[in-house]
Amino acid sequence: MMAIIPARPLPLVSLQQAGKCYGKGAGKVQALQEVTAGIWPGEFIALCGPSGSGKSTLLNLVGGIDYPTSGEVWLMGRNLRLLSDRETARLRAQSVGFVFQFFNLLPVLSVYDNIYYPLMLNGYSRKLADEQVMAMIERVGLINHYRRPPGELSGGQQQRVAIARALVKRPALVVADEPTGNLDMRTGEEIIELLLEMNAQSDTTLVISTHSPQLRASARRILEIEDGKLKDD
Ligand SMILES: Nc1ncnc2c1ncn2[C@@H]1O[C@H](COP(=O)(O)OP(=O)(O)O)[C@@H](O)[C@H]1O
Ligand SMILES: [Mg+2]
Repeated sequence: MMAIIPARPLPLVSLQQAGKCYGKGAGKVQALQEVTAGIWPGEFIALCGPSGSGKSTLLNLVGGIDYPTSGEVWLMGRNLRLLSDRETARLRAQSVGFVFQFFNLLPVLSVYDNIYYPLMLNGYSRKLADEQVMAMIERVGLINHYRRPPGELSGGQQQRVAIARALVKRPALVVADEPTGNLDMRTGEEIIELLLEMNAQSDTTLVISTHSPQLRASARRILEIEDGKLKDD
């Protein structure tokens, strides 16, 4: 007789005792202790912890930007240790969007081209991408600004560009590292609203590190980190 195995969703990211150590010898810093956690499709997760607690380090592992120095990270069912840098880069280009505190936009490109860029990396021609890029520009409220370089926009508008850039390829996962950390409170709240909306309207999973009480209150799951250790969630 065949055993009936119920279908179970796979985690998008699985961390198995993943640790991260920077430097060597006397300058060695254990930024992350053994972290074991899963991130599931559709989740909205707030990662909270004081400055220096390991939030960025953890997010870099979750998004496949960096490798653990101990333990394992699985991204989209692939063990990052077994992939070449090139394969990891391709996996990131297809599946992960990033939003950073200081926007990290390309200053010489227009708003439009900053948002088109990730689609270009995935092999889309301008023509093929255009509808998707324009729809995204409209969703983040920048239809009057898309020809300008990001340097001519306010901080909040620049973060909207970064959010559009992260979401335009409809990634399974978006990782945002203190996306409101460089914005005034009101603008920060608008950005959080936008991220919540994006999460509700799509299947995109969001993991966001934050000091914002509003984001903490809105998140369905909160991960607390202190001294590189995750507390029980
Ligand atoms: N590239 C690096 N080289 C050496 N130490 C680092 C590096 N990045 C972070 N650290 C250290 O690792 C710890 C965690 O840092 P980080 O993940 O940036 O924390 P958070 O994002 O919560 O402020 C801190 O002690 C920090 O100084
Ligand atoms: Mg940080």
